[in-house]
Amino acid sequence: MKPYFLVLSLLGLIITHGNSQSPASPEGFNCSANRSIYPCQAYGLYRAGLDQGAHDLISVGDLFGVSRLMVARSSNLTTSTTPGLGEPLLIPFTCDCLPSYNRSYYPVAYQIEAGDTYYLVSTKKFQNLTQYPAVEIVNPTLVPTDLDIGVMVTFPLFCQCPRSTDNFTNLVTYVMQPSDSYSSVAANFGTTVQSLVSLNGAENKSASFATIVVPLVQNPPPIILNSKSEQPAAPAPSPTPLIVSEKNDRNGVIVGLSVALGIVGVLCIFMLVLLVCAWRSRERMSEEDGGKGSNAAAARFGRTGSGVKLMTDITEWLDKYKVFKLEELKEATGNFDSSHLIQGTVYKGIIDGETFAVKKMKWNACEELKILQKVNHTNLVKLEGFCVDSESGTCYLVYEYLENGSLDTWLHDLTSSRNLDWRTRLRIALDLAHGLQYIHEHTWPRVVHKDIKSSNVLLDSRLHAKIANFGLAKTGHNAVTTHIIGTQGYIAPEYLADGLVTTKMDVFAYGVVLLELLSGKEAVNAEGDALWAEAEKTIFNFRDERKEAKIREWMDPALVEQSCPVDSVASVVNVAKACLQKDPAKRPSMVEVAYTLSKADETFADYSGESLSSVGGSDVFAR
Ligand SMILES: *[C@@H]1O[C@H](CO)[C@@H](O)[C@H](O)[C@H]1NC(C)=O
Ligand SMILES: *[C@@H]1O[C@H](CO)[C@@H](O)[C@H](O)[C@H]1NC(C)=O
Ligand SMILES: *[C@@H]1O[C@H](CO)[C@@H](O)[C@H](O)[C@H]1NC(C)=O
Ligand SMILES: *[C@@H]1O[C@H](CO)[C@@H](O)[C@H](O)[C@H]1NC(C)=O
Ligand SMILES: *[C@@H]1O[C@H](CO)[C@@H](O)[C@H](O)[C@H]1NC(C)=O
Ligand SMILES: *[C@@H]1O[C@H](CO)[C@@H](O)[C@H](O)[C@H]1NC(C)=O
Ligand SMILES: *[C@@H]1O[C@H](CO)[C@@H](O)[C@H](O)[C@H]1NC(C)=O
Repeated sequence: MKPYFLVLSLLGLIITHGNSQSPASPEGFNCSANRSIYPCQAYGLYRAGLDQGAHDLISVGDLFGVSRLMVARSSNLTTSTTPGLGEPLLIPFTCDCLPSYNRSYYPVAYQIEAGDTYYLVSTKKFQNLTQYPAVEIVNPTLVPTDLDIGVMVTFPLFCQCPRSTDNFTNLVTYVMQPSDSYSSVAANFGTTVQSLVSLNGAENKSASFATIVVPLVQNPPPIILNSKSEQPAAPAPSPTPLIVSEKNDRNGVIVGLSVALGIVGVLCIFMLVLLVCAWRSRERMSEEDGGKGSNAAAARFGRTGSGVKLMTDITEWLDKYKVFKLEELKEATGNFDSSHLIQGTVYKGIIDGETFAVKKMKWNACEELKILQKVNHTNLVKLEGFCVDSESGTCYLVYEYLENGSLDTWLHDLTSSRNLDWRTRLRIALDLAHGLQYIHEHTWPRVVHKDIKSSNVLLDSRLHAKIANFGLAKTGHNAVTTHIIGTQGYIAPEYLADGLVTTKMDVFAYGVVLLELLSGKEAVNAEGDALWAEAEKTIFNFRDERKEAKIREWMDPALVEQSCPVDSVASVVNVAKACLQKDPAKRPSMVEVAYTLSKADETFADYSGESLSSVGGSDVFAR
């Protein structure tokens, strides 16, 4: 192996680096040269607690969208350690080359707080691991000078993947401090000045806070080991197994699995769940959008093959969730009484005065768990925790509860549809576009929802929309069942014909939801005709003079009663038409949709006065 590597690394010195050969530009690292090396596992160096920033492992994990255990593991700490002030931590980054920008990033969802600007969050909270021009690029629909508190912004943390010829497997994104030089950094990471020069170009002494990449030749690198020896000794970790009863220092997020299940039982269950997951995920790999890259990627991440490896995948995330006890859920839902039933197998439950939605399902819940653990966005329904019942082989997923129920019940009822004025519908369309944009662009591997429909869109107390039911459609896909995957009226033609799964099938289904918002009609009528086919015949194919009258005729009577602006309606019709193109390649991406709709919303905001702000807590499910 050694001589082989030596030859390769010599070659590496001659051939220029596949990526850029200078510190990151303000937009990030250029990855257009060789996209095939992405995605990969990378790291970023973060110093705990500087500028009153995240200090303990939980807040650091939350900031970077990873679990405490993942931070602890890559920094050779125990989960109970609190790092010293300024102590360097290695944060695991999933590094991908974003095709629309040709820049490589680890995208992190961040919710704006009072006083935040792109600049301040990048330089202080993320310690220059990204820069504001890059933040502007990846959030094309947001206005940087006009950020509302609570809005989700994607912060693209700079990262790179090693070339295939490199003799190391990971790169660490490192921000040069005023006291640093290449030689001190090389010493800190146990590498050489020469390799830093070959990765980042010659050292520029006058550029402080430059973002460079450093090869990780030993894990953890000396910078972490040395800093630790200066710290007072951490309390010895208790030998408790990972999952069980680790009390959370923050707010009791970890409750510990039911004692009745017992430690051994728990481990067995997870083995089982994970084996099922392993089997399913391998099956899914081949059908996933971008499946070409993801097999190679999976190999890089060591995700294929063994269930044991997958086990670490999920256990790493367990401490992000509350683990509920079965008795707790039974009590909360009146022993899963039908009076608590919301829909399907989803029950309403009250635990400690807080309301949740509890979904009861078979083992295949892990599919949804695996997807939800990666996503975090205001327009996606949030998973709060779960519970596993080994005796009945049942898994319970516990979600945030949304007072106003699903969009379809609002639209298909004349009284409540009057409460959804045009402004509110436009906003629901935009919320949905943002949620989809996030799963399509900012997750890895790309998530395709596969079952976008109005009944999977839930509304919160302020009538903001969130996407629910992740992975449900996927679980229907296996050789044994003959279930139709997806829902009639929303299925894209290419999927029906060839089983082709891409993000564009969600775009198609989204187009159908837009038609429902416009017309108040159901996606499939009583005769079994699809709404999109009807729209094609009635509103898409007319010239301007007749189009307006046709649209008016076709629109939801509840909307016609109110006066809604023609321009705004016409632009939504055009977006729907584009989304419903038969050729998936011609459909827009969700970024483009979100952009167009936010423009429609802006022009309408100038035009309209008050909008419906709250329909406080009416429980549409209670009926
Ligand atoms: C990796 O390559 C660099 C030169 O690019 C060399 O200095 C270093 O010794 C190599 N490391 C190993 C472990 O082969
Ligand atoms: C990204 O790079 C590829 C290959 O170099 C090129 O074909 C593509 O047009 C680039 N995309 C953008 C948005 O610059
Ligand atoms: C990225 O690098 C490629 C060559 O490797 C170059 O052609 C392209 O212009 C660069 N893109 C940007 C945006 O700098
Ligand atoms: C991790 O840290 C401990 C001391 O806290 C040390 O004994 C051990 O060697 C370190 N592990 C590695 C892989 O360096
Ligand atoms: C980030 O960079 C800015 C200058 O670009 C500097 O003022 C700030 O101190 C840096 N922050 C950290 C945490 O290094
Ligand atoms: C890109 O990377 C792949 C695999 O790492 C390699 O086979 C290919 O030769 C590289 N292409 C270029 C242009 O560097
Ligand atoms: C070094 O950094 C300074 C400040 O960022 C910049 O103005 C200068 O062009 C850089 N020099 C080189 C050779 O890249």
